[in-house]
Amino acid sequence: MTVSVEGPTRLEAVGSVAVRTFEARRPGTNPETQAPQAMAPYEDDLQDGQFYDPDAEYEPDPEYAATLAPDAARQRRERVGPTGRPLPYFPIPGPLTDHGPAKIVAMCNQKGGVGKTTSTINLGAALAEYGRRVLLVDFDPQGALSVGLGVNPMELDITVYNLLMERGLVADDVLLKTAVPGMDLLPSNIDLSAAEVQLVSEVARESTLQRALKPLMADYDYIVIDCQPSLGLLTVNALTAAHSVIVPLECEFFALRGVALLTETIEKVRERLNPELELDGILATMYDSRTVHSREVLARVVEAFDDHVFHTVIGRTVRFPETTVAGEPITTYASNSVGAAAYRQLAREVLARCHAE
Ligand SMILES: Nc1ncnc2c1ncn2[C@@H]1O[C@H](COP(=O)(O)OP(=O)(O)O)[C@@H](O)[C@H]1O
Ligand SMILES: [Mg+2]
Repeated sequence: MTVSVEGPTRLEAVGSVAVRTFEARRPGTNPETQAPQAMAPYEDDLQDGQFYDPDAEYEPDPEYAATLAPDAARQRRERVGPTGRPLPYFPIPGPLTDHGPAKIVAMCNQKGGVGKTTSTINLGAALAEYGRRVLLVDFDPQGALSVGLGVNPMELDITVYNLLMERGLVADDVLLKTAVPGMDLLPSNIDLSAAEVQLVSEVARESTLQRALKPLMADYDYIVIDCQPSLGLLTVNALTAAHSVIVPLECEFFALRGVALLTETIEKVRERLNPELELDGILATMYDSRTVHSREVLARVVEAFDDHVFHTVIGRTVRFPETTVAGEPITTYASNSVGAAAYRQLAREVLARCHAE
């Protein structure tokens, strides 16, 4: 099943595939016995006692592996990961006794459909599983993050838009608890698109979000902002509020197009508005180890960004579109899936990077 056609057709394809598969996966009742029917396991589900082994999952073909490390023994010893670099071990993070101040991460790429929203939800959920207090900020007027967490944005009276524009409103009025313990959401809907225009005449318009988030910093360990697909004022607000940026890149031919413009914007925000801003990492998404194409794109990305590329790579699987329909993260919807394991590993890598600083 491939859903990699560009443009609107792709969205339709993803949508219909998602719905169909999702329906089929729901445990129904056996019409004869009325007993609940068990769901058939997915091919890529990890079975009991199995653990996520990126080496096994991304097993490169021998020819490809040879280009990464000169001999088989060394490939095994160095545990070459999908990015072609030795794969470090990311320890399971220990529990926290107290929380905050939050590290703010902007999930940013002006290209749509690269996995920003998916990565925000699932990185957030994985961090929360590891005992971190997490706040997700839906900063896209399309409200996909809210939808992905089971919220209907059209029914909301107050959203992140009100938090930005109305003085005297406190974040608690806007905050929603998600089904994931320890993870909250600042939802948004189409109202937010008005902010882009209205903010233009504000004083210190680029730091509006930063001011709104300030009172929340002490309560959370991570705040992840899901940006809209543009480099407009909303995204600049996210970059001004953030300590670091994660850039998801789809392992497709045009992945690197436009990234120069993005890094230029990050650079400008760092110079003029937020000297602490760092490029945390490039996250390769929708990677398909079976295609030479995916591997070539990933190799190019590593060539261009080197150590900025996360060792963790997110594979392409239809289970992500399914989770959107289900309105929950993959870590709870399909806890044993390879996709869930990948985002857990990303969470460990993010935490390990943070401690290394
Ligand atoms: N690793 C993946 N494998 C397959 N489909 C994915 C993956 N990540 C995201 N998707 C799907 O691709 C589409 C776009 O992803 P999304 O996270 O909404 O991107 P963005 O927020 O950058 O526009 C969604 O339908 C999503 O379910
Ligand atoms: Mg999105």
